[in-house]
Amino acid sequence: MGHHVLISGASSGIGAATAHLAAERGWALSIGARRLERLQALAREIQKSYGVSVYAAPLDVRHADSVRNFVQGAMAHNGVPTVLVNNAGLALGLRPLLDTPEADYQTMFQTNVEGVIRLTQAVVPHMLQAGRGHVIMLGSIAGWEAYEGGSVYCATKFALRALTQSLRQELLGTPIRLTSIDPGMVETEFSLVRFRGDQERARKVYEGLTPLRPEDVAQAILWAVEQPEHVNVDVIILKPRDQASVFKVHRRVQG
Ligand SMILES: NC(=O)c1ccc[n+]([C@@H]2O[C@H](COP(=O)([O-])OP(=O)(O)OC[C@H]3O[C@@H](n4cnc5c(N)ncnc54)[C@H](OP(=O)(O)O)[C@@H]3O)[C@@H](O)[C@H]2O)c1
Repeated sequence: MGHHVLISGASSGIGAATAHLAAERGWALSIGARRLERLQALAREIQKSYGVSVYAAPLDVRHADSVRNFVQGAMAHNGVPTVLVNNAGLALGLRPLLDTPEADYQTMFQTNVEGVIRLTQAVVPHMLQAGRGHVIMLGSIAGWEAYEGGSVYCATKFALRALTQSLRQELLGTPIRLTSIDPGMVETEFSLVRFRGDQERARKVYEGLTPLRPEDVAQAILWAVEQPEHVNVDVIILKPRDQASVFKVHRRVQG
């Protein structure tokens, strides 16, 4: 059966990789993020390669109006989404809690937690009415294990895990499925954003190890979606072979 996959934060990384894999299957897409040029370039590429319907429009999950307009546009273009990928998210800085600026902790909570609530509230009632739907949350191993310098980011992902556990119970008895995809290190723009464009610092995060690729995470998302309707994949934790826990990583010495 075909799908309409709505993805937040599709302008890079895991969101963009998920868009590619979904389009490869011939599914319709609605892709949103703040950087419209990036989205439009992705939409053109996908339409050219796979000929699927793509709605690409600005989306800032921190703002209710933006979420409302995006979901309305997506539904006018492609109908009710059958898959919602709550992917938009970010970490800002790696400072101790006592030094974390207010603007940073507000942005992380507004995006990673409030943004997910907003988009879920905007989409799931339509899925319920249509009698079909699957919500994917992009959690993290940071939602299971807190680390120094990651207090607020970890708090947002712990919060997301709590929210997902509650929602799973609230959706029981409905046709809506809910999956949390919780990766370890994935090489995307995540570290570049965390370190505010410092390429050298971002590169060092993955030095000497083989991180997950965004496509690896996208495959896990698609695998959960493609299970038979009676199967709900609750959580997938996936890490690079070189990562056993948040900071326990195996780095090969560069020779
Ligand atoms: N990379 C990792 O190691 C890793 C590990 C575990 C979990 N995750 C999670 O995976 C998700 C995707 O991250 P990624 O690794 O693919 O990083 P990424 O390459 O930086 O992608 C993040 C996406 O989120 C979008 N975004 C940020 N703020 C937004 C907002 N207010 N409204 C709408 N879109 C917004 C960005 O687009 P714009 O800037 O254009 O808005 C971008 O498309 C995040 O939730 C992250 O926490 C990542």
